[in-house]
Amino acid sequence: MSLFITFEGLEGSGKSTQARLLYERLQIRGYPVILTREPGGTRIGEMIRRILVDLKHTEMAPTTETLLFSAARAQLISELIRPYLATGGIVLCDRYSDSTYAYQGYGLGRDLDELHAITKAATGDLMPDLTLYLDLTAEEGLERKRLAARVNRGEQLMTPSSPSSSNNAQQEPAWNRLDARDLEYHQRVATGFQELIQRDPQRWRKIDARLPVHEVAHLVELEVEPLLAQITLLEQDS
Ligand code: TYD
Repeated sequence: MSLFITFEGLEGSGKSTQARLLYERLQIRGYPVILTREPGGTRIGEMIRRILVDLKHTEMAPTTETLLFSAARAQLISELIRPYLATGGIVLCDRYSDSTYAYQGYGLGRDLDELHAITKAATGDLMPDLTLYLDLTAEEGLERKRLAARVNRGEQLMTPSSPSSSNNAQQEPAWNRLDARDLEYHQRVATGFQELIQRDPQRWRKIDARLPVHEVAHLVELEVEPLLAQITLLEQDS
């Protein structure tokens, strides 16, 4: 048996931090686990990500945007997710197809049936066993994101000669093309997530993202715990 767990939430919800903390905890406990993200996670996917977030790409058509997210996802599934699940491991993914329904569907107004067809082609209907939704309002999320972007800019000014890094997260601007959309867009996305949760409550767990980081991490671990029994621990070197 394997386990596929995804993290979803609005910008600034802290899902990337929580995905990393869960990854570290599971690793320490001896579980076979990988952490990846969307869009990205592969060489090709990270290149697609750069195209998607670039502030200069104001002319990008909604269909192009949708297909690029799906292309990155198709690559991630074929290169990383399916092979790792086949070994009986745990895959943690920071965003997945629910983000396409919430952002391109509810946010941009793309037809949900059309998105379903595109998603089916990209994923072969691979669905997560569990999806953790880090819950907060669009206003709270954007405020956190703006604050983080400001802190990040300050740090960049203080360290002008920082060495070039292969870490894509560091090369990316803290405020990108997709964050820059207006509050109403992010509110539609938030409504979209709530509707997706209502439609499939078995798969989703809502967690209050306004709690302190360590409390959110504890709640995340509690939700994951019952599913771990089916995973075989890695053999430890003695
Ligand atoms: P992410 O790296 O999770 O950024 P953040 O931490 O700021 O939330 O996601 C990048 C952006 O891509 C984010 O604005 C959400 C958006 N997105 C979509 O619009 N559709 C998708 O299918 C996915 C996976 C992400």
